[in-house]
Amino acid sequence: MDAVKVLVARRAPAAVVEKLSARFDVDYHDGEAPLTADELRARLQGRAGAYITGTERITPALLDACPDLRVVSTMSVGYNHIDVAACTARGVLVTNTPDVLTETTADLGFALLMATARRMSEGERLLREGRWKSWSWNFLAGADVHGSTLGILGMGRIGQALARRGRFGFGMNIAYHNRSRLPADVEAELGARYLGKEALLREADHLVLVLPYSAESHHCIGAAELALMKSTATLVNIARGGIIDEDALAAALRDKRIAAAGLDVFEGEPSINPALLTLPNIVLTPHIGSATMPTRLAMAGLAADNLLAALSGDAVPTPVNPEVLARR
Ligand code: 8YV
Repeated sequence: MDAVKVLVARRAPAAVVEKLSARFDVDYHDGEAPLTADELRARLQGRAGAYITGTERITPALLDACPDLRVVSTMSVGYNHIDVAACTARGVLVTNTPDVLTETTADLGFALLMATARRMSEGERLLREGRWKSWSWNFLAGADVHGSTLGILGMGRIGQALARRGRFGFGMNIAYHNRSRLPADVEAELGARYLGKEALLREADHLVLVLPYSAESHHCIGAAELALMKSTATLVNIARGGIIDEDALAAALRDKRIAAAGLDVFEGEPSINPALLTLPNIVLTPHIGSATMPTRLAMAGLAADNLLAALSGDAVPTPVNPEVLARR
């Protein structure tokens, strides 16, 4: 019997490529840059499985052009780059990589929060440019993290990991807003208060965005929401860039309507809205939330295991649309 054909659409750890190649007929895109949409469509012809990352878009048109595709395994927890409804309608299983990146991404979120509140990038730029001349009482004076109110918008796994860091590490008061409220015992354990979105915006000293990106959350932080925040507040985004209206954020930072922002994700990444680049009160990192070697290896391993299981009829570790499996 011919081996099942899969495409590994982005560079992956050698062990993962070897593991997949031992079982499947693998077409490996071993290039630095992502495939274009046309290249992706061409290379998926006749392939039953796709190992992708957050840079490959799975659209209805692509699915229609690749009728042999049965499984899309993304090496990411987020799946806003995949039209899951269109996959489900066509019987295509989608899998992602939750859990293995939760703590690592929360670490980065907290690092970004601290760097932003304590003006670390601003200080480093000033130092490197030879602009550190003397001391004054308010030199680079920022906001306290310990004991302040941490607002979390989106209280899934990563939001809860941030809450634990804030509460147990820094004695912060935790407030959150989420589509659904956490069970009472989880709220109690995290010391987390559930607030409406507006109340959260008003009360947070530091607001971290960790909600999934969708049509509903597109630009859900814009001029009106920023206007509700404290003028001393910091805003951190480790979710997806499109959640924030970046032009509105740039204006709010320029006019000091909020104190500072820390962004790991951008609407047009890897292109950055030029309005963000010249502001002093902003810390920018290039989407490195899950970027530690152990976590990236775990994500790649889980994505491979999902693909292997799904195409072998075994129990799939982390399906996004398990209803497809129930129908098989
Ligand atoms: C990834 C992420 O770096 O998992 C996610 O959703 O945003 C990041 O961890 C990226 O999407 C890789 O595919």
